[in-house]
Amino acid sequence: MKALQKKKAWPTRAAMQQIYHKQLWGTNGTTFYSGSGSHDSNLVAPYIASVTSFLASLEEKITVVDLGCGDFNIGSRLVPFAKNYIAVDIVEELIDHNRAVFQLPHLQFRCLDIAKDELPKGDCAIVRQVLQHLSNAEIKAIVSKLYRYKYLVITEHIPKGAFIPNLDIISGQGIRLKKQSGVDLLSPPFNVKAKETRHLVSLVPPKGNGLIHTMLYILE
Ligand SMILES: C[S@@+](CC[C@H](N)C(=O)[O-])C[C@H]1O[C@@H](n2cnc3c(N)ncnc32)[C@H](O)[C@@H]1O
Repeated sequence: MKALQKKKAWPTRAAMQQIYHKQLWGTNGTTFYSGSGSHDSNLVAPYIASVTSFLASLEEKITVVDLGCGDFNIGSRLVPFAKNYIAVDIVEELIDHNRAVFQLPHLQFRCLDIAKDELPKGDCAIVRQVLQHLSNAEIKAIVSKLYRYKYLVITEHIPKGAFIPNLDIISGQGIRLKKQSGVDLLSPPFNVKAKETRHLVSLVPPKGNGLIHTMLYILE
């Protein structure tokens, strides 16, 4: 009986559309808002400084693929540091909006479900505060496709201190923090094999708990 009463998962695209439509991650008066994690200057500035310093440290500019680009307040600041920048999101209206607002010759937007669709080619995937909203089944599907990139810059909102990684959730607005868990791609059931792991930056959100934690994984 209990099993029948379990919450039914919405398809992820519909869930993400509803989040933007109902402004469930808040609002700042713009049409699309990806949450304070994408806008708070205490979180944005150190993240951008850290990722741009990594990109600038490479011998040449590379192609960056931003998976789950959201309202592009973050991505727009990284574009100048890439040879080509491909920004992807599951919400079509958001991608149409971004296409109209952010126009540069080496920037393109694509509407894809990164768990189901083929991912664009590139050198570095940036996945910032996306997996934290997804079920383990979807994360597994995404992880299997990340090895096409040399570099992965991954940002997750995790508990401070020790925690049980990767407790499962239903994809949507919430994250594992309320279960005292968070996504760790190196742990089961994902077991990402990285040649090198580098800690880039960990930041404390002004409101709320935990850490916004960014790692660089070198995958090939
Ligand atoms: C919290 S926002 C983060 C946005 C951006 N990365 C940032 O840090 O500002 C998460 C984004 O991931 C997108 N997303 C979630 N699941 C996705 C999927 N399966 N495929 C593509 N995008 C997805 C959502 O639509 C949303 O725009």
